Amino acid sequence: MNKQQPRTTRLHKPKRTVSVIATGSYVPHKVLTNADLEKLVDTNDEWITTRTGIKERRIAAPEETTSNMAAKAAQAALDQAGISAEEIDMIIVGTVTPDMQFPNTACLVQNQIGAKHAICFDLSAACSGFLYGIEIAQQFISSRSCDTVLVIGADKLSTIVDWTDRNTCVLFGDGAGAAILRHRPGSHGIIHTTLGANGDYAEILHMPGGGSKLPLTKENIEARPNTIKMNGKDVYKHAVTAMVSAAHQTLETAGLTAKDLACVIPHQANLRIIDAIGSRLGLGQDKVFVNLQNYGNTSAAAVAIALDEANRTGRMKKDDYILLVVFGGGLTWACSAIQW
Ligand code: ACO
Repeated sequence: MNKQQPRTTRLHKPKRTVSVIATGSYVPHKVLTNADLEKLVDTNDEWITTRTGIKERRIAAPEETTSNMAAKAAQAALDQAGISAEEIDMIIVGTVTPDMQFPNTACLVQNQIGAKHAICFDLSAACSGFLYGIEIAQQFISSRSCDTVLVIGADKLSTIVDWTDRNTCVLFGDGAGAAILRHRPGSHGIIHTTLGANGDYAEILHMPGGGSKLPLTKENIEARPNTIKMNGKDVYKHAVTAMVSAAHQTLETAGLTAKDLACVIPHQANLRIIDAIGSRLGLGQDKVFVNLQNYGNTSAAAVAIALDEANRTGRMKKDDYILLVVFGGGLTWACSAIQW
């Protein structure tokens, strides 16, 4: 944070472009396969694979927290960028499974990586948290309030999954992904991000208990109000509509068409949702990045882990145009067009 400059001076400075200069990710070691789930609930590999595309997911150890996973993803991004944690001005953590109500997870990450000059806050936008964070980072850097921002999507959903509910427990996993954003001369970087939300449908995907509305008590704990409740069919419908519409809007504002894209990285929730988006945008399967078979839906981490894997495996080259598109509880959604 540039604390020396008076705000009026900053207002008169021209905006600058903002790029993702590095990415990192982390997933826990423990693998939970579809066969393992067959032992927990009445399900089978064939049902899970054909309905979702998921084959396995990672589950954090009891002592491994959301902030621990976030810090490991952040460190991988710092190593890739070749910069010190002390250069970070701001840490944003998108999560719905913070280590605790407060302090925020970003402060805990700050402590673990040694980013002692960063301001820190969490962002609650469910699966859309990482891209909401990217847009906030972009605004702070382009207006010159920050130079270097660390954006993390991290969730330990295994702690809020009802492991007796086959409708939901087969879908989710744990993990974290991170990106470091800075101005990089000579690149458009993040060209445009579309954000959206619709609270009318808050109840089709939510965790009703554990907050101020319904604190956990001895009387209600048996009903597990502190676990994910979801109307899968409704979520599916809204997810496809919102992500396709956000993608069109983003491409149009960015002055791009689907043909210009080297890679689309969608939220990793369900292969059928991803295929529907790909076909509605007229994209070949080779253009759409998919890794949900390995991790399931890791909420805010999903698109961040996918971005890191796409980056590290060379799916996009410098100056390629890519599109990130996400959807989650809230409802919330977001889409970013980026020149890599
Ligand atoms: N194993 C076996 N059978 C199951 C399982 C399971 N794990 N889960 C549900 N079933 C049963 C249901 O009980 C139902 O049985 P019934 O007809 O006897 O009642 C039957 O399978 C069919 O269920 P449907 O709801 O028709 O299954 P659908 O094809 O809609 O798939 C799914 C369900 C996978 C949840 C799908 O609706 C979906 O992916 N929705 C999107 C939800 C999502 O991705 N949420 C993640 C968070 S939001 C986000 O990140 C986008």
